Amino acid sequence: MQTFLGILLLLLVLQRVPAQISDEEGPNTVIQLSEVMAKCSCQVMDQLVYVYDEYPQSVENIYMPHCVVVRRCSGYCSGEEFKCLPTLERNATLQLKISSQEQPVELTFLEHQQCQCRDPENLPYYERSVIKSQQQQQQVH
Ligand SMILES: *[C@@H]1O[C@H](CO)[C@@H](O)[C@H](O)[C@H]1NC(C)=O
Repeated sequence: MQTFLGILLLLLVLQRVPAQISDEEGPNTVIQLSEVMAKCSCQVMDQLVYVYDEYPQSVENIYMPHCVVVRRCSGYCSGEEFKCLPTLERNATLQLKISSQEQPVELTFLEHQQCQCRDPENLPYYERSVIKSQQQQQQVH
């Protein structure tokens, strides 16, 4: 009987351990300046993209999920004239579901692989048109 109580007590103590660990990441955590700056500086980040924003012509299909997470350039650049822009991109193909079909469908989304703070006015001509069309897409939201 005593060992049973002992085990019961041990279990109660063990149950408290994870709760205490997660308390350290509770509502009153202080995040150091260096980490704050590192996290918001220009880099590739996970971004939520609405499928219909990039495929507006496909409104007759109801995609599940409605949004996808892709890696895109985002973050702070020092200097007004600089923008966080991709220097390397790829197309990622993601599987989604549409209601009228059993099999998943595949949609392609642009992903950024490398970013840099750059002056949009000083880009080579062939890159400027690409960035302009991306910004116009974003303003439609
Ligand atoms: C991604 O696909 C689009 C549309 O097919 C194409 O215009 C673009 O050049 C592709 N980008 C890359 C990095 O492969």
